[in-house]
Amino acid sequence: MWICPVCQASLARTGEQWQCENRHSYDRAKAGYVNLLLANQKSRPDPGDNKTMMTARRAFLEQHHYLPLVRKLAEIIALQHPAKSLTIHDAGCGEGYYLHQLCSLLYRPDSVITAAGSDISRSAIEMAAKKYQTLQFAIASNFNIPVIGNSRDVVLHIFAPASAAEVLTILVPRGLWIRVTPAPEHLAELRAALYQTPQQHSADAEIPAGFEVLLQTRLQFNLNLPDLQSRKQLLMMTPYYWSVAAGAMDTVCGKMSKLSAAFIIQVFRKALQ
Ligand SMILES: C[S@@+](CC[C@H](N)C(=O)[O-])C[C@H]1O[C@@H](n2cnc3c(N)ncnc32)[C@H](O)[C@@H]1O
Ligand SMILES: [Zn+2]
Repeated sequence: MWICPVCQASLARTGEQWQCENRHSYDRAKAGYVNLLLANQKSRPDPGDNKTMMTARRAFLEQHHYLPLVRKLAEIIALQHPAKSLTIHDAGCGEGYYLHQLCSLLYRPDSVITAAGSDISRSAIEMAAKKYQTLQFAIASNFNIPVIGNSRDVVLHIFAPASAAEVLTILVPRGLWIRVTPAPEHLAELRAALYQTPQQHSADAEIPAGFEVLLQTRLQFNLNLPDLQSRKQLLMMTPYYWSVAAGAMDTVCGKMSKLSAAFIIQVFRKALQ
C-alpha cells in the first residue's frame, strides 16, 4: 500500500525494511511504522504536534468525549460504502484513536478492512503504531501522501491540513473524502475564557476540484468535563495551549465548566473524469 517517496514505485516489506524496485529502502521502526518523510519535506527538524500535545490528546480522546463524532463518521461510511471490503486512510491521524474506533465500529465478521494512517509527527505515529498493531502507520506529509494511486475507498482528514490533489490521487474512482473541521463556534467557551475578543473559526465552503459534494453537515454536542484534569487535556491538545500564560492554566480551566463541541463534516465523492 505504501509507495517510495523518492521514485513513487510500490514498496514491499522484507523483514525489517520496506524497499522499492529501485532499491530505495526505509527501515521499519521497532514500533512497526515506517518513516516516509524525506528531509526536504520538513519545514523544521521535528514537524507536527509534539509529544506533550499527543499525550494530552490521547488521554482526552480515550475518555470518549468525541465518540458522537466517530459514530457519525462510521454511520456515513457504512451508508456511502456498503461493500464488505474497505480500504481506508486517515491522513493526519494523530495518535490513532479515530482510525481504531472507526475500524471497531465498522467491523463485521464478513468484512475486510484495510486501514492505515499517516502523520507528519513522529511522536504521533510512534504512539499510534505502538498501541494499534493491526493498523499500518507511516510518518508522512499530507502534501505528499505515500500511498498507491487509485487504491483507497475512503480518505479521512480530521482536523488536519489537506491537499485535495493528493486525496484525488490516492482515492479509487468514486471514492469518498471525509473532511472534519471545527465549526465557527467550536469550543467557543474555551476561547472566551482565553481572549478578550474571541475569534470564531472560519469555515471553508469551497468545493475542491475533481470532487462532487455528497453531504455537508454539522454535528454539535455538549462536553461534560467536571474535572479540571480533562479540561487541561483538552486545552493542551489544541493550539490554544500556547496562549495560556504560565500559572494561569487552573484559572482558565476553572472557567470552562460548560463546553460545546461543533464540527463541520464534509463528504466528497471523487468525480469520474
Ligand atoms: C489537531 S491534530 C488532529 C489529529 C487527529 N486527526 C485527531 O483528531 O486526533 C492535527 C494533526 O495533523 C498533523 N499534521 C500537521 N501538519 C501536517 C502535515 N503537513 N501532514 C500530515 N500531518 C500533519 C499534526 O501532527 C497532528 O497530529
Ligand atoms: Zn524508490
